[in-house]
Amino acid sequence: MYWQLLENRVTSFAHNFSFERIETPILEESALFSHAIGRETDIVKKELFEFVLKDGTPVALRPEGTAGVARAYINHGMLSLPQPVKLWYMGPMFRYDRPQAGRYRQLHQFGFEILGSDHPVLDAELVSMSVRFLKSLDISSHCLVNSIGCRVCRPSYLQKLLLFVRQKKRSLCADCNERMKKNVLRVLDCKEEKCQIIYTDAPSMVDNLCEDCKKHFTRVLEYLDEMNVAYTLAPRLVRGLDYYTRTVFELFPTGMPKEVPLVQENSSSYQEKEQEEHQEEQEENEEAPSKNPHRQDALAGGGRYDLLLEMLGGKPTPSLGVAFGMERILTLLKPKVDAAVPPKGHTNSVFLAQLGEKARKKMLVIKDELIQKGVKVLDAFSKDGLRLQLEIASRAKVSYALILGEKEVIEGTVILRDMNEGIQEIVPFEKIVEVISAKLAPKGSL
Ligand code: HAM
Repeated sequence: MYWQLLENRVTSFAHNFSFERIETPILEESALFSHAIGRETDIVKKELFEFVLKDGTPVALRPEGTAGVARAYINHGMLSLPQPVKLWYMGPMFRYDRPQAGRYRQLHQFGFEILGSDHPVLDAELVSMSVRFLKSLDISSHCLVNSIGCRVCRPSYLQKLLLFVRQKKRSLCADCNERMKKNVLRVLDCKEEKCQIIYTDAPSMVDNLCEDCKKHFTRVLEYLDEMNVAYTLAPRLVRGLDYYTRTVFELFPTGMPKEVPLVQENSSSYQEKEQEEHQEEQEENEEAPSKNPHRQDALAGGGRYDLLLEMLGGKPTPSLGVAFGMERILTLLKPKVDAAVPPKGHTNSVFLAQLGEKARKKMLVIKDELIQKGVKVLDAFSKDGLRLQLEIASRAKVSYALILGEKEVIEGTVILRDMNEGIQEIVPFEKIVEVISAKLAPKGSL
């Protein structure tokens, strides 16, 4: 029920925002993921479910959806469609990590991708749409947002970051010492608390953006302000995938422990906000050093990937997207649904209870006819005791039960029991489907 509700909501949201559904393969060549996501990311280095085909090609179960969508966009010539192309998907992803609450080896995501535009209004719209999606499920979230620059400004920032981490290398974990040699930006993803505390003082990308990126980011924030979307600037949010450029963001449920201050009034300039954030964040870390900034409870994450399609052999195609973790959303959704809708049971349905082999055979025929008439049927054909079957019927809160024993089979009748009133009547075989259908059948049939 909960999955269905979420899937229906995603489908209608995607429809209303004019996204077209895309299905991409679950199994792809590993090279796609290592190119797109980055060899030094945890997702590729540690979490890929990978194996080798008979012809020696390494393949992997998809750990996320964006790489496959980007590949499909190139392979299917979607550049010739009116741009931007808006696609959405939903399905299983696989990450070989230590399973724990909110972190699974087979997880489900739905995602929205917008390919073929670099306009900042789309970044803001995507963030706004993501927040509004959760809101539509009565889940309030706060958004962390950052800009991680482009190929013009990032190299000089990485130099500064490298200088910083080299000075701290003795205090950093072994992974970070490795990361600084191969892809220094990835140190900021480190899940070790001691490293994260050190990175509080690291130079931040937003202070080192080139003019174009600064302009882009300022406009994104202006649009967010205009749409009344609350956000927090998170100067060390880099996301765990290498394909990002410029805007990155994550959504967290409100009311959870947090590493940076919650939503903030969108009134000051982003430079001011960034400074305030930085200060408050430091204070918070000082107050509660045990809070790990790399928590496992992000409900969604996304950003721009302006260079990804080029990296995969396509034409320059600035793009952006977001993906949501369905299990994490369901954890929050389930109690809300339960509170709003008291368990109804299977009202408007009939339970078939039988005693003995002849009755079971007869019931199979009755079941088939009832289903043909569009009646919802429950049964326990593998059980024998009548008491047990009626108990099941009662727990399932069905409206009616049909009871068939040896005696009824001989007499050509069925007992029809009204489970709410406790009243029973005897109905001839040939009439029973008609009688039940009249009492229960919805308009139309299968
Ligand atoms: P991601 O942040 O790796 O981004 O994953 C998106 C969401 O999937 C997370 O916020 C989280 O809710 C959920 N998730 C990730 N790993 C797990 C896990 N092991 N168990 C349960 N839930 C998990 C991406 O995947 C990007 N492809 C998002 C994107 C789309 N960027 C641009 N377009």
